[in-house]
Amino acid sequence: MSRILIRGGRVLDPGCGRDERCDVLLEDGVIVAVDAAIETRGAEVIDAEGCWVAPGFVDLHTHLREPGQEYKEDIASGGRAAVAGGFTSVACMANTQPVNDDPAVTDFILDRARQDSPARVYPVAAATKGLKGEVMTEMSALVDAGAVAFSDDGKTIMDSGVMRRVLEYSTLVQRPVMTHAEDRTLVAEGVVNEGPVSTRLGLPGNPAMAETVHVSRDIMLAELTGAHLHVAHVSTAGAVQQIREARARGVHVTAEVTPHHLALTDEATAGYDTNTKMAPPLRGSEDVAACRAALADGTLDAIATDHAPHALHEKEVEFTAAPPGIIGFETALPVVLDLVRKDELTPLELVSRLSTEPARILRVPAGTLAVGAPADVVVIEPDHEWVYDPAKGHSKSRNSPWDGARMTGRVLATVVAGKLVFHADRGVLAP
Ligand code: DOR
Ligand code: ZN
Repeated sequence: MSRILIRGGRVLDPGCGRDERCDVLLEDGVIVAVDAAIETRGAEVIDAEGCWVAPGFVDLHTHLREPGQEYKEDIASGGRAAVAGGFTSVACMANTQPVNDDPAVTDFILDRARQDSPARVYPVAAATKGLKGEVMTEMSALVDAGAVAFSDDGKTIMDSGVMRRVLEYSTLVQRPVMTHAEDRTLVAEGVVNEGPVSTRLGLPGNPAMAETVHVSRDIMLAELTGAHLHVAHVSTAGAVQQIREARARGVHVTAEVTPHHLALTDEATAGYDTNTKMAPPLRGSEDVAACRAALADGTLDAIATDHAPHALHEKEVEFTAAPPGIIGFETALPVVLDLVRKDELTPLELVSRLSTEPARILRVPAGTLAVGAPADVVVIEPDHEWVYDPAKGHSKSRNSPWDGARMTGRVLATVVAGKLVFHADRGVLAP
């Protein structure tokens, strides 16, 4: 029998509102007790004195690149980077090669994950074949194979008729549709946020309105169909407002925001660093403030990394030619801890946005430290200071805007299914 005792930490469990000093006992993959002063009884002890103990993080939005682009990342390296960042479950997007638009690809991903990944992996299947935005995928066969949601992420479904049908069918399989909301005709050639920064840098602008317009359309279609619409990587005040109003009138819409859209503005691109290029782009300070406020008031339900690895040679080109995206697993926690330090979120609220809420959106068994729940746990040292070096990280790629940045807060230990899979002093331990 495997037994781990996490001793003396500040236990944060948004599921039951618990925020108190406790011990947590894990046995055979399950949480068996959360209590003051649990006896050791031969358990492996993790000393959590001065630490936070929380349900493992659940990432709604990642790119693991396998099958097909294993030079950027694969399910093994992505899974290792995930647990090093405190993520015990990750949902991986369908823009692989081949695209995950067929149950055989979903099967393959799950098979690989079982063998290679210390984190649990939940495939998101494509909503349309080949991500072309034209013909719907076979949703029920994909759900039977293990898909937990549908998304053409990376591409926008521009055809409103197709999006309507995708949403309609998603209600039959009762799975969310995650929209990459950027109206392509408004994005045009844009590579940075349209505004003073794009003008100054002489780079084509991608207007905030490209997102707001598209979120608005998708919300109207979700309202028409009664489907669960999930808005990926919200970056604008306009989209936040649309989501807030829709929620108030009962539309089933949820939304996520990335650490980079919470922490950085388009000013980060001043030096033309291609590791500040992503889709949607970094926005102005008013958009960032709106996203932070919306995360605090719950309009934005969850934090998702949009971990998007790209190889060095792909990013070492001129700004307009570089692929969009940055890695995010191993920097997410310290970056978003800033919201707690600035009193914008309580620690319990932060854990709910990283774990409980994304688990609820995906409908997966995670996000809680309740007795009987799967033993997926993260131990956090909130005040630990360190310097981030992507070369020392677990991802195959290094495309991070935080290369060399001073960080406060780190993951001390990650447990998946009752097994210690990461410890800061020992690295990734399994599989
Ligand atoms: O920045 C991004 N990178 N946004 C996306 O939507 C796709 C992703 C990728 O696959 O690299
Ligand atoms: Zn996207």
